[in-house]
Amino acid sequence: MNKRDSQMILSCLLTDGFVVSDGIEDADVVLFNTCSVREHAQNRAIEYAKDVISKKPGAVVGLVGCSVQLLREEVFEKIPGLSFACGPDDTGLMGNIIQRVINGEKNILEVGRNYPDNTSISVNSKVSAFVNIAKGCENFCSYCVVPYARGKLKNRPVQEIVREIKDLTNKGVKEVTLLGQNVSAYKYQECDFTELLKIINKETDIKRIRFLTSHPRDVDEKLLKTIAELPNVCEHIHLPLQSGSDRILTLMNRGYTREYYLKLIEKCKSIIPQCSITTDIIVGFPSEKDTDFKDTISVLKQIRFDGAFVYKYSTRKGTSAYNLSDDVSINDKKSRHRVALDLVSSIAKYNLRKLIGTEQEVLVEKIVKKSIDANIWAKGHTRKNRNIVFPVDRFTPLDSLPYPTRFIPGQIFNVLVKDVHNCTLVGYCL
Ligand code: 5AD
Ligand code: SF4
Repeated sequence: MNKRDSQMILSCLLTDGFVVSDGIEDADVVLFNTCSVREHAQNRAIEYAKDVISKKPGAVVGLVGCSVQLLREEVFEKIPGLSFACGPDDTGLMGNIIQRVINGEKNILEVGRNYPDNTSISVNSKVSAFVNIAKGCENFCSYCVVPYARGKLKNRPVQEIVREIKDLTNKGVKEVTLLGQNVSAYKYQECDFTELLKIINKETDIKRIRFLTSHPRDVDEKLLKTIAELPNVCEHIHLPLQSGSDRILTLMNRGYTREYYLKLIEKCKSIIPQCSITTDIIVGFPSEKDTDFKDTISVLKQIRFDGAFVYKYSTRKGTSAYNLSDDVSINDKKSRHRVALDLVSSIAKYNLRKLIGTEQEVLVEKIVKKSIDANIWAKGHTRKNRNIVFPVDRFTPLDSLPYPTRFIPGQIFNVLVKDVHNCTLVGYCL
């Protein structure tokens, strides 16, 4: 979501005639897009902004994103000399705000105006784009600041989503990732998420549809069957587990049990064979004991996820868990984090190696020149969202461009997986 906001800002500014600088030294305007989910990330952005203000006294420096929505006027106390601050729903105003700063206005704060941002964006890659289908969240997981930072759930009208995807495909985009804090709870009039997938599949020419993130409580058999049936929907689901302990899940207000989650994964694996499943884990939630952590580890061992983000609990003001004592010591948080991360990455690597010898459908996103072997490589993702590279022509040296034109980004190939290098599959085009 944050990445999509950055693309949106970039897209608006490019439309207004701004250009991207080569680096921070050459920039007249420096923007920091913040994430408020964990305090550490928020503090890092604030420290970075302060550093830039001290080193570039003449520059316009702005803080944007969901931390601004939470901190409001406080950002100017935390960051003296900050030119402006703008919330995540107001980024469409960015060019206008920067102009106001240039005209001499000080301490501009724009939050909660809900300025429309229907711009279609494909600035980062011509091949893949993010499409917002919903904003905000009303689940109120006890640790999570998102419902406060991003506000109430607002579902985007179906036809607006379809229009944006058609527009993107006309610009050459082949893959969209539908974004929302909880896409599986999407509802616009009679249309739920399953229906939305069917409509996009039928009414647009997009080659690949991905989606992020699904709440386990809202994923049902109907959705899983639809993912399995629709040819353009990729077989990858990100299903945050957060904890394997029922006691902690209740304290987190997640609305499901360990048993429910395990059964859901079983269904998912049987309905969508070879489905890639990834997750999020929080370690060190208030009152988490070694036995609770062991429950999380046992679920990780049982499910064998293809990937997982593991986070140390960060207490966030305004959330209901803020009232619980943050009583897991930093050392315990660190050691549980390390243990979970090591387990997750060794399982993920094992799962990747199992793909050696299989054929994978790859959407090429970039052509890169590798200095190590002077070959030209195509870089992309498999349907199940794994990074993959394959040589465009094994014997094409670096200086013999142009490379064979059939390998332009946006093309889809069948690739035989030969090896794994640092979590990236290496293959040969068939
Ligand atoms: N502390 C640590 N991790 C958090 N997440 C959300 N809030 C917190 C918090 N207070 C994690 C959850 C969520 C992911 C996006 O961030 O695992 O799924
Ligand atoms: Fe936060 Fe829970 Fe909403 Fe996800 S579902 S954004 S964790 S409140």
